Amino acid sequence: MAKANRVYKIQVPVVKNQEIESTVIDITYQGMGVVKVDNFPIFVVDAIPGEIVHIIITKVLKSYAFGRVLKRIKESENRVQNANKIAITTGIAPLANLKYDAQLEFKQHQIEELFKKVNLAVDVAPTIGMENPTEYRNKAQVPVQMINGQLETGFYRRGSHRLVPIENFYIQDAKVDEAVRVTRDTLRELGISAYNEETKKGVVRHIMARRGYYSHELMVVIVTNTKKLPESEAIAQKLSAKLPELKSFIHNINNHDTNVIMGQWNQTIWGEDDIHDQLMGKDFVIGPNSFYQVNPQTTSVLYTLAAEKANLKSTDIVVDAYSGIGTITLSIADKVKRIYGVDVVEGAIEDAEKNAQNNKVENAEFVLADAPEQMAKWATEGLKPNVVFVDPPRKGLTQELIDAVHDMNPETFVYISCNPATLARDAVQILAAGFEIDGAVQPLDQFPQTTHVESITIFKNTAY
Ligand SMILES: C[S@@+](CC[C@H](N)C(=O)[O-])C[C@H]1O[C@@H](n2cnc3c(N)ncnc32)[C@H](O)[C@@H]1O
Repeated sequence: MAKANRVYKIQVPVVKNQEIESTVIDITYQGMGVVKVDNFPIFVVDAIPGEIVHIIITKVLKSYAFGRVLKRIKESENRVQNANKIAITTGIAPLANLKYDAQLEFKQHQIEELFKKVNLAVDVAPTIGMENPTEYRNKAQVPVQMINGQLETGFYRRGSHRLVPIENFYIQDAKVDEAVRVTRDTLRELGISAYNEETKKGVVRHIMARRGYYSHELMVVIVTNTKKLPESEAIAQKLSAKLPELKSFIHNINNHDTNVIMGQWNQTIWGEDDIHDQLMGKDFVIGPNSFYQVNPQTTSVLYTLAAEKANLKSTDIVVDAYSGIGTITLSIADKVKRIYGVDVVEGAIEDAEKNAQNNKVENAEFVLADAPEQMAKWATEGLKPNVVFVDPPRKGLTQELIDAVHDMNPETFVYISCNPATLARDAVQILAAGFEIDGAVQPLDQFPQTTHVESITIFKNTAY
């Protein structure tokens, strides 16, 4: 007999505007404190595990709610006094309220938990941190909006497109912040408007600024919705007068309504098409659309460690998938016989080729292609690398790529990840493809004050 459909009403134990006093028991991957009432989670900005907080419920959903701290009754010893409130509440630096050692532990713990979730027993080493974990970012991509008739730059309030005007971004190189401020003021002086996502009117969507940490070369990109950047020559004159490090000023068009910040069309208004920076003794050309690690200080630690763990030999054939402008490829090329890089961004591959040439690296070859497709092609063609490096974007690897690595049968598979959730997911498939994890997963703090974490995992082929 068919059972009658029963409708269960989910009991939500809190209501909006209710006040509660409770202990913070955990911290989410977004850096919010977790308070529970009858096992029902309430997420609270600026609340640290161990703290007793008096909160007001601000929003109630089916399976969780949000709350705001009215009073902190007991503070955690891990709390940073006078932390940058705007950085925490906007989400620029959601961990800025946590002492740095506790941030490093949080990141190690985060990776442990994500591997537990996929039932993989792994050791996770303590997170390698930075000496000065603020003002480290070499790049800003700042949204632009009109607020009360004035063009403003800042950061979107968490989970919204409401701009909070900000001048000091706390985790960005002060010179990058300065470049954004000067560009904002210049646009204001020349009466140029910001693009409005609702009315679809206006001009400027984003300002991007990137500065070479070692070279001190500065690039400013103005991203517009319109085909033309009004007063472009006047902007160039003012920027070059006020920003002595400026090497490249570019207009980029993005007229697609997506979350992608940069469009594909660039025009150099003033100076060079790209900037340079140095990393591990090599010089790199970096174009406006190319990925370049945002924390150059820890990047050299990351690459050095990854190369050491890969135990490279001068006879090795190596593949570097998701190679960007070739920073990993070229920094290890001297240690191996031949190395192949692949990336899907045309500008990045053009930069990688220039970088190989400029640094007189002759044993590196770059291919413009989708990495999984190219790996499958190489596998079919019989390429047999000894070591494969992957450094994918946050969405991680595809089964096609993992299958290609299986077919290539390398001894060592080095996975550099900026998203431990996809790393743990992919690790399950990599083990199923005949590999085992060698040693501990090594977290590295490329993104201090944020919840993001980079890590290196070495997979060894069990067939060897
Ligand atoms: C995390 S970055 C790593 C870049 C480089 N290894 C580095 O350290 O600078 C990821 C790279 O993957 C590239 N990418 C994204 N999707 C891709 C795909 N389907 N195929 C190939 N490359 C891709 C991006 O252009 C970017 O350069």
